[in-house]
Amino acid sequence: MTDWTFEELVGDTEEFFSRHFGERPMLRRGALDATRARELVSVGRLDDLVAMETVHPAYIRVARGGQGIPGKAYTRVATEHGAALTEAVVPEQVYELFRSGGTVTWNYLHHFLPSARHLVQAFTQAFAAPAEAVAFLTPAGHDGYAPHHDPVDVFVVQTEGTKRWRVWEPTGERRSEPATYPDGTLGEPALETTLHPGDVLYLPYGTPHAAAAGDLVSLHVSVTVTPRRWRDLLRETVDALTADEEFAAVPHLGGTGTDHGPSATALAAKLTLLAERLAQVAPAAEAARLTTAGQERAGASRPREFERLASLSGLSPHDPLRRSRIPVAIGPSDGGRTQLTVNGHTLAVPDAVAATLRLLEGGGSVQAGELLQGAPAPRSVRAAESLTRLGLLEPAAVGAGSVDR
Ligand SMILES: [Fe+2]
Repeated sequence: MTDWTFEELVGDTEEFFSRHFGERPMLRRGALDATRARELVSVGRLDDLVAMETVHPAYIRVARGGQGIPGKAYTRVATEHGAALTEAVVPEQVYELFRSGGTVTWNYLHHFLPSARHLVQAFTQAFAAPAEAVAFLTPAGHDGYAPHHDPVDVFVVQTEGTKRWRVWEPTGERRSEPATYPDGTLGEPALETTLHPGDVLYLPYGTPHAAAAGDLVSLHVSVTVTPRRWRDLLRETVDALTADEEFAAVPHLGGTGTDHGPSATALAAKLTLLAERLAQVAPAAEAARLTTAGQERAGASRPREFERLASLSGLSPHDPLRRSRIPVAIGPSDGGRTQLTVNGHTLAVPDAVAATLRLLEGGGSVQAGELLQGAPAPRSVRAAESLTRLGLLEPAAVGAGSVDR
């Protein structure tokens, strides 16, 4: 498994956020050594990906002279028993386009390449925002794309060959659309540089740039990040506050007259209530909630469930366990057993287990042998193992505070 950290790519993160983020480009030579850079993605790996019929053609684009080439130039409809099955990439046609100067891109690389998925994860953690990875393979001596800017922050990681970059000052305007710039309209570039394997180049949102391969085939990965603005974050805070029942009624607005008095009075009351609720928000807790929500929303943060299940060996009675973050609904007791609903599954557990789960909701841990209080340890351990497999419980650090009963 290849894990990456944000620091590994940008160096001192404090310096990055204070000096470069959103403001000015950053070039970091040799952030990764050549071997590590190829671990992210190599030319050979792209041969495998182009040949894999399960990678949908929508993920692959080819452009030549700055213009996209229609997908039908390098795809076919695969058939199975005479029936159209799916569109598939024709590797020979992609190779032919590449030989004649086409740049091949793999969009959403993190959807099908584990190393890119892990890389993107480092960015979603650092920015609490969605991130995506795109691979660009450019034939030797050819331009990639004409000068343009992207409406995202971009981190370029060169993994093979070299690429010449021209970078102009950011436009300063956070336009939400990409734009291309006709030749000669941008003036002199602020930065002209050649990236080698392992080099990292950061381009703030809206930075015009153009790139061309050197004497070798060039491969780089661009990680794009879309950080949330204040308006996005505050909207999420207001959304959470207005989920309250106090804001659920449906007022009557509109009508044809000019007297909006009653609507305005009702609106004033709700605005006052909302202002009061906003004033009560604890900034530190809300910042933590918004951060976690941003980190978890990105697909790349999904857990490794197979690995988790495979790593679960038998528990011993003294193993400490705590509640996981998977929500559980604990129903009423019926005949000594309590119904639990988790991940859409319903199961009945002894009341003593439900009572311990309730206690664990508030934090703390319990030893596997004591989950089912009053029962022999082996029985309690078996119950703990089945709740751990379901994901309701997870190992806690040894020495974690145990719950008070
Ligand atoms: Fe770009």
